[in-house]
Amino acid sequence: GSMGISNIATCTAPVNIAVIKYWGKRNEELILPINSSLSVTLHQDQLKTTTTIATSRSFQEDRIWLNGKEEDINHPRLQSCLREIRRLARKRRSDGDPGLDSTGLSHKVHICSVNNFPTAAGLASSAAGFACLVHTLARVFGIEAELSAIARQGSGSACRSMYGGFVQWIMGHQDDGKDSLAQQVEPETHWPELRILVLVASAERKPIGSTSGMHTSVETSCLLKHRAEAVVPVRMDGMIEAVQRKDFPAFAELTMKDSNQFHATCLDTYPPIFYLNNVSHQIINLVHQYNNYYGETRVAYTFDAGPNAVIFTLQEHVSEFIQVVRHFFPPETNDGQFIKGLPVNCAPLS
Ligand code: PMV
Repeated sequence: GSMGISNIATCTAPVNIAVIKYWGKRNEELILPINSSLSVTLHQDQLKTTTTIATSRSFQEDRIWLNGKEEDINHPRLQSCLREIRRLARKRRSDGDPGLDSTGLSHKVHICSVNNFPTAAGLASSAAGFACLVHTLARVFGIEAELSAIARQGSGSACRSMYGGFVQWIMGHQDDGKDSLAQQVEPETHWPELRILVLVASAERKPIGSTSGMHTSVETSCLLKHRAEAVVPVRMDGMIEAVQRKDFPAFAELTMKDSNQFHATCLDTYPPIFYLNNVSHQIINLVHQYNNYYGETRVAYTFDAGPNAVIFTLQEHVSEFIQVVRHFFPPETNDGQFIKGLPVNCAPLS
């Protein structure tokens, strides 16, 4: 065209919610974790990132805009993703497959990325963001390869958003990280009754980012070491089995226990890290009281590096549970302190 755009692509990537948490790196540069993890990728229409990338001969330098604001392209993890994609593109060329037009490799990129949910409020924005970046870059450079190991180098949890449905990130054992990959456990069609609700307890930015939080936890928490070595390997097996059998009570119990242990390792970190607030604690109590009332586990909560609750339940219980939440957290008394937006009904299925 008139601007000399040589290639352009737009893609979307959804958020994923970990039910067995990733917390702690054994290699900070390559983003290699100390334990495997497992997540559910949300439906594309719900919490997602949309990224457009263009290449042009006339672009002087690589540039990036996030939610309309230009950001620093020299961000190290962004650079890792760009470098790895360009490396694959060059390799493909030297293997004799043109893949893209002859000038494309030297072209600079302009990246525009927008989230349809609050950034850095513990809603895994980096996961959708880097998954989308890597997927769109691959599209622009004509690459068809296993990309989760590249997305992982943007943000660990991003590797799991490269697949739909139920996804495990296998920690791997190699020093070069080539075996630290995401793998689909079951597709998005596997468990159609499963539903996810997001209860927003605060849309503020989290005080401690996952990168520095993990670093301090690895340095100081012996509970984290125990968790990674002795607890998570057993839970991963149990969780995969619960997902495969669509055993909601088993899935729910493991999800809640793993969220609680993750936040316990945060408390065991020195100085301690607090991601949950009063509203989070009230939601935890409410879920247990609700399950107790029925004498069966109908609802589960999980919290990432922030106070917002992600609720798992089955379709048949959604409307009643929403009513119960509305009763205890009436929207008009929220006052910025209580639940702000209710609820995103995210079916992780198409
Ligand atoms: O990928 P990061 O650096 O944003 O870390 C994500 C960490 C948790 O969200 C707390 C857990 C997880 O497995 O997603």
